[in-house]
Amino acid sequence: MAFLEISGLRKSYGDHEVLRGIDLAVERHQVICLIGASGSGKSTLLRCINALETIDAGQIGLDGEVVSGAGVDVNLLRRDVGMVFQSYNLFPHMNVIDNVTLAPIRLGGLSREQATAKATALLERVGLADKAKAFPDRLSGGQQQRVAIVRTLAMEPRVLLLDEITAALDPELVAEVLGIVRQLAAEGMTMLLATHEMGFAREVADTVCFLHQGSLLEMGPPEQIFTEPAEERTRMFLKSIIAAGRL
Ligand SMILES: Nc1ncnc2c1ncn2[C@@H]1O[C@H](COP(=O)(O)OP(=O)(O)O)[C@@H](O)[C@H]1O
Ligand SMILES: [Mg+2]
Repeated sequence: MAFLEISGLRKSYGDHEVLRGIDLAVERHQVICLIGASGSGKSTLLRCINALETIDAGQIGLDGEVVSGAGVDVNLLRRDVGMVFQSYNLFPHMNVIDNVTLAPIRLGGLSREQATAKATALLERVGLADKAKAFPDRLSGGQQQRVAIVRTLAMEPRVLLLDEITAALDPELVAEVLGIVRQLAAEGMTMLLATHEMGFAREVADTVCFLHQGSLLEMGPPEQIFTEPAEERTRMFLKSIIAAGRL
């Protein structure tokens, strides 16, 4: 069994089946990029893995344990599986250090001193040590997203889910966020990321998965998916991306 194993995953909203039987195996230290048109199901898949959505069928396993369905402790699960969103979602009424230390103190069992030391080290790593006391509205989008990543890392997740984390950023701020993801990949973090940054996916992914209307239509190494996709749908998607100047 793979480290993170998704099998037969189905999810519907009403009578709209959004995920139509997803099978995906992610090994430790792998970086998987999910690509596909808007509405293809990328966010829903990530949200199901993090138990932000219930699933209708199938199973999700993490390190040999079932982490889907009834009876799963979602707080424990989310400690192992961290997620970062397009829209940062920092707590606006808390400064940076409080944003980062909240969960480690409340859920992770750390003292304030321990949590602060850890948060400070992480903020240093992403070049934001001087922003510890700043409130989110004083930070650029790129800085807020870096704090959001740090906040997730502070819980020492075993898997990181990243949902279009650069999509809301001005172009000049994308690189500073992708730089952190690149660093995490180099350190061996297991990651599953939905992205429209095809150049980045090509560079950082071990495997690229193309989702189409809720099905994982094609997957393979970036070289193959980006240069000789097997499926006509994948080819059409890449063509549209190239036409938009995004590849
Ligand atoms: N909470 C929801 N209720 C109803 N439909 C939803 C909900 N969330 C997503 N959908 C629908 O599910 C489909 C997949 O959405 P999503 O997973 O967000 O795709 P992607 O992230 O690839 O753009 C879309 O048709 C979307 O409208
Ligand atoms: Mg999405």
